[in-house]
Amino acid sequence: MGDPVVSVRGVEKRFGGFTALAGLDLDIRAGEIFALLGPNGAGKTTLISIVAGLLRASAGTVRVLGRDVVTDYRYTRRHLGLVPQEINFDPFFTVEEALRIQAGYFGVRLSEERLEEILGALDLAAKRHVNARALSGGMKRRLLIGKALVHAPEVLFLDEPTAGVDVELRQQLWRYVRTLQGRGTTIVLTTHYLEEAEELADRVGILDRGRLLLVEDKAEVLRRYARKTLRAALATPLAELPAPLRSLGARLEDGGRVLSLDAEPGESFGPALAALAAAGLAVQDVETQRMRLEDVFVTLLRGERP
Ligand SMILES: Nc1ncnc2c1ncn2[C@@H]1O[C@H](COP(=O)(O)OP(=O)(O)OP(=O)(O)O)[C@@H](O)[C@H]1O
Ligand SMILES: [Mg+2]
Repeated sequence: MGDPVVSVRGVEKRFGGFTALAGLDLDIRAGEIFALLGPNGAGKTTLISIVAGLLRASAGTVRVLGRDVVTDYRYTRRHLGLVPQEINFDPFFTVEEALRIQAGYFGVRLSEERLEEILGALDLAAKRHVNARALSGGMKRRLLIGKALVHAPEVLFLDEPTAGVDVELRQQLWRYVRTLQGRGTTIVLTTHYLEEAEELADRVGILDRGRLLLVEDKAEVLRRYARKTLRAALATPLAELPAPLRSLGARLEDGGRVLSLDAEPGESFGPALAALAAAGLAVQDVETQRMRLEDVFVTLLRGERP
């Protein structure tokens, strides 16, 4: 594994007497998609703002591509893109002008090809010459994403990029995020759509009240915390479960037509399937369900909270 693209060490942030970040250590790996999750007020935007150099940490250091975000601000700012959570831009320019001006800030000339690629990916081509104030809410957010991309940053921070974006566009954005990753861009995203994190992320971090509860591969989080449920449709309804199945924790549902059973993370349904066969029960159909990242997230937060 190469050097981390972003390295956060001992970062604290206090606003007056309030501690928003309580000493964070975090490494973002080159080329990954990292989902930073957490409830409202957890500190996600505060952390991103510190990494992007928009806010000063009360203690600790942050490095982007090996350079300190405070002492080497110009360098680190040039190599990262930020899509802020709050929509704020000049409404008097057209979409194209807004993108060109943003590129200008970074001393980048926006080629026609690159402009069209960005407009196409964000489905804004038809709005190219429209004033930003005449865009819908979702379109404004897409324009923000476009602005964060004009200088082809190596690290892209997306702070709730798809809030208010419709379902189809959201999926289109997901595809584009993957395309960017395919080109080597490292992506850090926050989202309250856990489905988005489940879809996109290689690793997830859960932040709660200024502390990281967990930083882990997404697949590992699901393997470790997601309970599974098996439902077997029986050919003949049962009045009572055979004892071996009962002792495995199986239940009868749907008037005895369905046998259901939970498995803890890491546990297999092998013994239950063997007990089903040994009991001579004819099974018509079997369905298994795994907890989604959303359920795992809620369970983990609940467990950590008093
Ligand atoms: N400028 C500020 N002054 C005082 N408190 C602040 C300031 N900015 C943020 N906070 C507080 O810090 C905490 C973390 O805020 P932050 O915006 O980082 O949360 P978040 O995880 O991004 O939440 P959300 O999911 O709602 O966007 C909150 O309690 C917030 O009220
Ligand atoms: Mg936020």
